[in-house]
Amino acid sequence: MTQVVIVTGGSRGIGAATAVSLGSYRTRVVLAGRDADALAAVGDRVQRGGGTVLTMPGDLTSERFAQQLVAAALGEFGRVDAVINNAGVVGEVVHMSEASADSWRSVYEVNVLAALAMVRAALPALRAAGGRVVNVTSEVAAGPAESIGAYAASKAALSSLTRTLAIEEPDITAIGYQPGPVHTDLMATILRAAPDTMSAAMAEGYRRLAAGGFVDLAATSAKLALLAMRAPRAWTGRIVDHADTEIDGLAAG
Ligand SMILES: NC(=O)c1ccc[n+]([C@@H]2O[C@H](COP(=O)([O-])OP(=O)(O)OC[C@H]3O[C@@H](n4cnc5c(N)ncnc54)[C@H](OP(=O)(O)O)[C@@H]3O)[C@@H](O)[C@H]2O)c1
Repeated sequence: MTQVVIVTGGSRGIGAATAVSLGSYRTRVVLAGRDADALAAVGDRVQRGGGTVLTMPGDLTSERFAQQLVAAALGEFGRVDAVINNAGVVGEVVHMSEASADSWRSVYEVNVLAALAMVRAALPALRAAGGRVVNVTSEVAAGPAESIGAYAASKAALSSLTRTLAIEEPDITAIGYQPGPVHTDLMATILRAAPDTMSAAMAEGYRRLAAGGFVDLAATSAKLALLAMRAPRAWTGRIVDHADTEIDGLAAG
């Protein structure tokens, strides 16, 4: 039975590359994001690579959309084996003294509450399938993270949510994934703002990253796809890093 995997934030960046990787295993992929044209283009790539795809354009900050997404997956494919909560935003790149409360709120809406809504909507199907939730978090969760405080705090919340989900839901596998620094739109936003909003030392760190420190998009996304398809139950509650060599063992499965 080929697996059914929901990928949020599938229109670009890590989510799009993960969907393409899932397709190469002939997985049935349900892709969500707001940009319908971009989603359709990613959907074509998934199909050309051997996968089956359902695209669902919509805003994940709506709990109703999360429910519709799961209902569409069940209607089309009859099951849900995994949810990858990948959609994320970085928000304003400024010190917290200058950030608006609304900008913190909007970061939490996508990075924490949308992931929670997806978990809640998909849990009955995931319990039935003995499925997986993979929450895409970040090493910045361990902070401090100058000028991306809302982002870092939201990722800390998402990691915590993952660990609690693992003990509350013994029939599923809940893990977090740290993809490492990847050159996507989200990262480009930080890089653009760094020289003007961060201390010289921090901005220099990002400059060096941009000069050759990024993790390969396809490689880290392939690891995320493997976790969604094959992470063992024993890993539940763990935050897995892209550099963790244990993931490579899943490729043989
Ligand atoms: N890039 C990195 O270095 C890095 C490092 C650690 C963790 N991460 C995490 O990896 C994940 C993917 O990030 P990325 O770097 O690939 O970023 P990206 O290229 O900016 O992609 C973000 C994705 O999230 C979707 N999204 C944002 N808000 C949404 C909303 N309200 N409703 C539905 N979809 C929404 C976007 O789709 P639409 O715009 O079409 O809605 C897009 O597909 C994020 O959770 C990020 O925090 C990234």
